[in-house]
Amino acid sequence: MTKHTNLGGTFMLANASLTVNRMGYGAMQLAGPQVWGPPRDPGEAVRVLREAIEAGVNHIDTSDFYGPHVTNQIIKQALHPYRDGLVTVTKVGTRRGDDKSWLPALSRQELIDAVHHNLRNLGVDKLDVVNLRLGEVLRPSEGSIEEPLTVLAELQRQGLIRHLGLSNVTAKQFEEGQKISEIVCVQNFFNIAQRDDDAFVDELATHGVAYVPFFPLGGFTPLQSSGLDAVAASVRATPMQVALAWLLHRAPNILLIPGTSSVKHLRENLQAAALQLSPETIAKLDSIAAASKQ
Ligand SMILES: NC(=O)c1ccc[n+]([C@@H]2O[C@H](COP(=O)([O-])OP(=O)(O)OC[C@H]3O[C@@H](n4cnc5c(N)ncnc54)[C@H](OP(=O)(O)O)[C@@H]3O)[C@@H](O)[C@H]2O)c1
Repeated sequence: MTKHTNLGGTFMLANASLTVNRMGYGAMQLAGPQVWGPPRDPGEAVRVLREAIEAGVNHIDTSDFYGPHVTNQIIKQALHPYRDGLVTVTKVGTRRGDDKSWLPALSRQELIDAVHHNLRNLGVDKLDVVNLRLGEVLRPSEGSIEEPLTVLAELQRQGLIRHLGLSNVTAKQFEEGQKISEIVCVQNFFNIAQRDDDAFVDELATHGVAYVPFFPLGGFTPLQSSGLDAVAASVRATPMQVALAWLLHRAPNILLIPGTSSVKHLRENLQAAALQLSPETIAKLDSIAAASKQ
């Protein structure tokens, strides 16, 4: 494994101590099937994390509701004590039902418990960044976020959280959130084929706030398109690499957290940071995406 010299450049999330490479890693796929229970191959899960870090990744996205608890415990097992400069971003606001469903968990006590579960399972005294996760499964729903965000801001003042972010929110909710506490990142559903947040991405860029797309590769069913395949062949890359490179080209405030449970896919994904797409190639990808929406 080689250390990557190009992980898409860097982005300052909040201050110099919270500067990350734009190519990060999303840990959700490390839990078992349906993000439930232990992984099919626990050794591979540890190898994925260690290889990501050795390659220079310094931004890992996780949550204690992956597994539940499993993903954070694997991160701790694989990487603790953590390297200086590693930024772990977790999220709260959701819980898992016994039937593996994803349910809101936004009461004061649920949020406090979730922060403490993250601290314990990651083995840290303070969480680097906590995203408040709202909305429905795949899309935000309007409504005030004041109550739950105020709880997290209190925990931040108590010293349990360094920085706050939001996930699955609208531009209006971001605006409301900023009045309660500084918001350093927004994590929403966005990829080459899902562009509802186009304007939001640009708006956040003007505020210097990171936009971190979840499902950058399409999620549980990775993106599939003959147009994407053709472009990938033309630039001698894989379709997944093109999808990631497109995001890195899309805006300087986009940070990537592609998820994988495999070292092979991890290597492929990290290489995407060095893939240059010409303006013509980007225009071609945009026209393919636009045509698929019609
Ligand atoms: N805030 C939220 O609501 C929310 C929601 C969903 C996810 N997230 C976060 O976003 C991160 C990324 O999302 P995600 O992992 O669900 O989706 P994703 O990154 O879009 O895609 C993951 C899927 O793509 C496959 N894959 C990865 N690299 C591949 C490659 N090179 N070739 C072929 N297949 C590949 C993975 O399978 P293999 O394991 O076989 O590689 C997995 O099935 C998560 O880890 C999580 O931290 C947040």
